[in-house]
Amino acid sequence: MFRSRLSGLKGFTALSVVCVLAWQALALPPGTDDEISERLAPIGAICRAGDDCGQAVTAAVSSGPMSGQEVYDTFCFACHMVGVSGAPKLGDTADWEPRLAQGMDTLWDHTKNGINLMPAGGSCVSCSDDELRDALDYMVSSVE
Ligand code: HEC
Repeated sequence: MFRSRLSGLKGFTALSVVCVLAWQALALPPGTDDEISERLAPIGAICRAGDDCGQAVTAAVSSGPMSGQEVYDTFCFACHMVGVSGAPKLGDTADWEPRLAQGMDTLWDHTKNGINLMPAGGSCVSCSDDELRDALDYMVSSVE
């Protein structure tokens, strides 16, 4: 008598386990496994400090000095392409004539330290002096 009661209890326990499993299966978010892992992907894509994943970007940025044209194309062109706030335009001889008359030392000084609305370093804080000089040379050679 006691035995059969116990086995009845076991049967009930087993049935509950099955129910719980079935409930969990139903509780999964809708979608295929692929869709679910796709939704979760951005979480896995987060890069933490020290992770390998950031190195490719760092390497691309610091893979040697930029040429004068690269610096111009990245930083200077925003103002010097169309002459924002009176910036002398690339290739515009009339714009550059009075500038060149000041001499290269002054032009370099103003490239490095800025003047009026021309920001110091042409807004490139990470540029080396050589890169800035090359960018200046690039602009000057556009009117020579
Ligand atoms: C935010 C806009 C801006 C950016 C970016 C900028 N410039 Fe200028 N730049 C100016 C303006 C405005 C002037 C004119 C300043 C004046 O004479 O009042 C100027 C003037 C100059 C001059 C002439 C200075 C003189 O003494 O006549 C040089 C050289 C120059 N910029 C170089 C650069 C270089 C190189 C870069 C990029 C590395 C750069 N600029 C990026 C706005 C900018």
